[in-house]
Amino acid sequence: MLLDGEVVRSCITPASAAAGRSVTTIEGIADGDRLHPVQEAFAEHGVLQCGFCAPGMVVAAAALLRGTPRPTKAQIVEALNGNLCRCGTYPALVAAVQEAANDVGEANQR
Ligand code: FES
Repeated sequence: MLLDGEVVRSCITPASAAAGRSVTTIEGIADGDRLHPVQEAFAEHGVLQCGFCAPGMVVAAAALLRGTPRPTKAQIVEALNGNLCRCGTYPALVAAVQEAANDVGEANQR
């Protein structure tokens, strides 16, 4: 999740740390009914993850693209490093974030 726009691990962040701060979860990433490009890319690339992994990965990737619209593979891996998935979806995940970066970049050029 994001606390005041910064990625934090919700599983180890005490609720008291969120007092008076802006909290953004996976539900706040989309724009109403319109999915965030990262969410769309995850679906297109078949990044099938559990209810623990997907929210953390999507939120972290969206935060990465906000600050680094054209990340390298190494930057993507580093940004998602705190989310440990045991299901082997990392290759599809990186590809999805790269595609989302292209979508975000195109949207910014419009
Ligand atoms: S999808 Fe959650 S552990 Fe892999």
